[in-house]
Amino acid sequence: MLSNDQLDRWDRENFFHPSTHLAQHARGESPNRIVSGGKGVYIEDRDGNKLLDGFAGLYCVNVGYGRTEIADAIAEQARELAYYHAYVGHGTEVSITLAKMILDRAPGNMSKVYFGLGGSDANETNIKLIWYYNNILGRPQKKKIISRWRGYHGSGLMTGSLTGLKGFHDKFDLPLAQVLHTEAPYYLRRPRRDMSEAQFVAHCVAELEALIAREGADTIAAFIGEPILGTGGIVPPPQGYWEAIQPILAKHDILLVADEVVTGFGRLGTMFGSTHYGITPDIITIAKGLTSAYAPLSGSIISDKVWSVFEKGTDENGPIGHGWTYSAHPIGAAAGVANLKLIDTLGLVENAGKTGAYLNAAMSDALAGHAHVAEVRGEGMLCAVEFAKDKEALAFFDASEKVGPRISAELAKRGVIARAMPQGDILGFAPPLCLTSEEADIIVDKTREAVIAVLG
Ligand SMILES: Cc1ncc(COP(=O)(O)O)c(C=O)c1O
Repeated sequence: MLSNDQLDRWDRENFFHPSTHLAQHARGESPNRIVSGGKGVYIEDRDGNKLLDGFAGLYCVNVGYGRTEIADAIAEQARELAYYHAYVGHGTEVSITLAKMILDRAPGNMSKVYFGLGGSDANETNIKLIWYYNNILGRPQKKKIISRWRGYHGSGLMTGSLTGLKGFHDKFDLPLAQVLHTEAPYYLRRPRRDMSEAQFVAHCVAELEALIAREGADTIAAFIGEPILGTGGIVPPPQGYWEAIQPILAKHDILLVADEVVTGFGRLGTMFGSTHYGITPDIITIAKGLTSAYAPLSGSIISDKVWSVFEKGTDENGPIGHGWTYSAHPIGAAAGVANLKLIDTLGLVENAGKTGAYLNAAMSDALAGHAHVAEVRGEGMLCAVEFAKDKEALAFFDASEKVGPRISAELAKRGVIARAMPQGDILGFAPPLCLTSEEADIIVDKTREAVIAVLG
């Protein structure tokens, strides 16, 4: 066994961790795992523990760990040309190639890709571009953005505001005034138990229409949503939700941003979640699965309709005043090209659909009957188990009981990583898309053991 005493101390003394209880961590009261390696769906820590990563890092290592094809592409690019910028029409072979590969895979009507570094900055870009779009169209008052409670769009200033989770707002003076939140398409937590799924969709539509009427459609620029709620609880939309929402947006000339940071490049068993749910977005956000997190890279895919306004804007006003030093970084682009090739050659989109369905069915068989399991749900290679104190009355556990985190800790002791989702007692699974049915069985068996260890 390797000793990590020194690193453990350095970590607590020097390292500011994101999304962490800082005081407990500094005092050594919370677990810290120092990860040293990974192969396939497994990671290994410095203490020699091998764990099946049922959340693919943060649902991003889609091709699995240790892919030498991507590592080699990154190394080769670093040797040849580690960096050149993309300002004023400059480019590199890999970044141009990657833009073409993305557009070849994207839904119809998409025109160009702007590259950033992560999902948060891509959504910040989207909001700025949407404001620019409406200014060019001579509608300076049409600026507010609607997102859903429990949506997750990042943790920047606007993106943290769009995120509909309390923990990302409190004490940060968010949400900012331009952001409006509407009902989450979360049927389990519907306002009345006797609502059918169709009635609940009608309720979501009515809430959206009431919000638009209250604020005035001429003040609302865009609606942003993940095809399937991710960090808010891994919740597939109720049947007919996207079909019902989109005409309302079209009627009021409100742009639709599909945040596909989690769903892009195969997670639902289709290349994009938009195709899966019949969504026709004006802008698509991509990140995570674009490089399988082998290097940071994100993108905003812009539709023809929006792009034509940008061209008009620069003809009228000169070059667009937006860009980062690292936009379209060649190392990220090299990782992206190698990653997209690997997704195709390994048939990972198809496997996400097939093995994802197997995982969801097996999880449901193992746990749906448990007295404290309110729901087992998912789509493609996404799965969630939600716990309740009384599932008939739909009474949830108090957050202070930490049921979700305790189950996830028990599961880690048994060699499987799942994520205790931040709001509610929900155990989330988003394994690498290369998961096999045997590995799915391990996840399910160990989850069942962990649930019984905590809840009986
Ligand atoms: C749907 C969605 N959008 C945006 C983000 C933010 O991406 P990042 O953490 O790379 O900034 C995430 C991150 O989990 C996400 O799930």
